[in-house]
Amino acid sequence: MPKEKLGVLCSGRGSNLASIIEAIERGDVGAEIAVVIADKADAYALERARARGIPAAAVVRKEYADRETFERALLDVLHGRGVTLVVLAGFMRVLSPVFVHAYAGRILNIHPALLPSFPGAHAHRDALAYGVKVSGCTVHFVDEGTDSGPIILQAAVPVLEEDTEETLAARVLEQEHRIFPEAIRLYTERRLQTDGRTVRILPADEGGPS
Ligand code: GRF
Repeated sequence: MPKEKLGVLCSGRGSNLASIIEAIERGDVGAEIAVVIADKADAYALERARARGIPAAAVVRKEYADRETFERALLDVLHGRGVTLVVLAGFMRVLSPVFVHAYAGRILNIHPALLPSFPGAHAHRDALAYGVKVSGCTVHFVDEGTDSGPIILQAAVPVLEEDTEETLAARVLEQEHRIFPEAIRLYTERRLQTDGRTVRILPADEGGPS
């Protein structure tokens, strides 16, 4: 089975990127990272990639006239590197239907809440404001909506009365670093079968052909 070529999109520090790199290096995920792209030139994720010898590129939104030309530039880099699976690891932009169609069914995102609760950019703040007792994170396929695609894996953590956005985020992040590489592994093993909103996880010996 040919190795999946990942294009990892980030906006900031890239700790999820690091967890994916480590999982690949451990041999847990049979994929290679073909390129890391950040939408900010100073994103620490780019440094992390370069330090490991992974191609890294900044595609800066404000250097493009509109979202369409920005996304075309993203797609040019991804196609140029032969990317087969796009991984949104802390990428703080909503992708248009044009981009989503270009990689239909081949884009994964991590969101720091138990979707469908608290979509959007302020998940921890929203969870604390609502007073939930449990939060967590979700890996899902990306569709045309915001944080709305079929759910692959979720992990829950308790919300404590003394939590701040920072302490809750740190507890959730530990789980993100566990389930995101795991979801990528399941994808690369062809073990995710989507049926409407439901993603079935096939047993190890039933992964489909490449
Ligand atoms: C993560 O909590 C991710 O779920 C959210 O943004 C954060 C990115 O963190 N979308 P990092 O850049 O992977 O460290």
